[in-house]
Amino acid sequence: MKVLILGVNGFIGSTLTEKALKDTDWQLYGMDLRCDWLKDFLSNPRLTFQEGDITIHKEWIEYHIKKCDVILPLVAIATPATYVSDPLRVFDLDFAANLEVIKLAAKHKKRIIFPSTSEVYGMCQDSEFKEEESNLIVGPINKQRWIYSCCKQLLDRVIYAYGIRDSLSYTLFRPFNWIGPRLDSIDKQKKGGSRALSQFISNILYDGEIKLVDGGKQERCFTYIDDGVCALMKIIENKDDCAKSRIFNIGNPHERYSIAELAEKLLEVAVTIPQLKDKASRTKIISVPGNDYYGGSYQDTNHRVPSIENAKKYLNWQPTTGLTEAIKRTLEFYF
Ligand code: UGA
Repeated sequence: MKVLILGVNGFIGSTLTEKALKDTDWQLYGMDLRCDWLKDFLSNPRLTFQEGDITIHKEWIEYHIKKCDVILPLVAIATPATYVSDPLRVFDLDFAANLEVIKLAAKHKKRIIFPSTSEVYGMCQDSEFKEEESNLIVGPINKQRWIYSCCKQLLDRVIYAYGIRDSLSYTLFRPFNWIGPRLDSIDKQKKGGSRALSQFISNILYDGEIKLVDGGKQERCFTYIDDGVCALMKIIENKDDCAKSRIFNIGNPHERYSIAELAEKLLEVAVTIPQLKDKASRTKIISVPGNDYYGGSYQDTNHRVPSIENAKKYLNWQPTTGLTEAIKRTLEFYF
């Protein structure tokens, strides 16, 4: 099988590449702006890497869509701080650039596996989000945080419509707060430039202070990247068409924690890592208003729990790694 991965150097792309090279005989073709997370795999003859920008190198992309069996367009800005600080950049990349890829997959009748997101459910109040039943609920236009959610939702709907009209072969998967090695860079001191776990690791290193937005009572279900990628591999494999025309939440409903608990657990694990021990034991946890941290166009969701019945039933998948272990493995990767 020939697999095209756009955004191959990213968090999901690089982990998928590592596992696919190890456990399958798939031929991988990947494009990204950089290849720093791929350096151990670049010499593998089953990986063809092209440095490039999906908004510019369109000929390369169309050529490889024609050549490959499965297309994974993983390029996206996925950090909430950018949704509010630069929403049009999110629209241009996450929506417009990916729409072109989706249209090419439809034109050449190729299977597309698209990363939707837990964010599409927005502020849905269901106790568990179900792919075929839950409403997708976002705030007013002045709450720009939801632009990412809307971009992804509309692409989900476009792909679904191609599936109905043109029999486009597709699968949508929705990661629920995947965490792990290579989630974001933790190198620089930055405010809100990455997702919560990476932000907090960076806070331990450079700030001595973890900021909980609005007290950190909001909850997420954290999913270790290896569990997530295991589901993704089953989707790509598509044994007996088990993933065809389906939507899968890929998350860990049993690992549900508040953001305050995430911060506490991180500090507990960090003090056991020699390079972090001193800094972690000095790090304070404080609360800041969301409006101060992200600005007035931020809005949050207080809970987000996936139903994973589809993934259990059709992929025979369920997650196995808990939050503490996920944090431990993440810190061991970075230090
Ligand atoms: C994330 C991102 O939108 C995407 O990465 C992804 O599509 C999706 O959700 C997912 O991974 O399922 P969110 O969970 O809000 O959204 O992202 P984080 O930046 O990881 O924030 C989690 C929570 O921590 C939020 O409530 C945020 O306000 C809080 N937070 C974040 C803090 O309290 N302090 C910080 O310094 C950073």
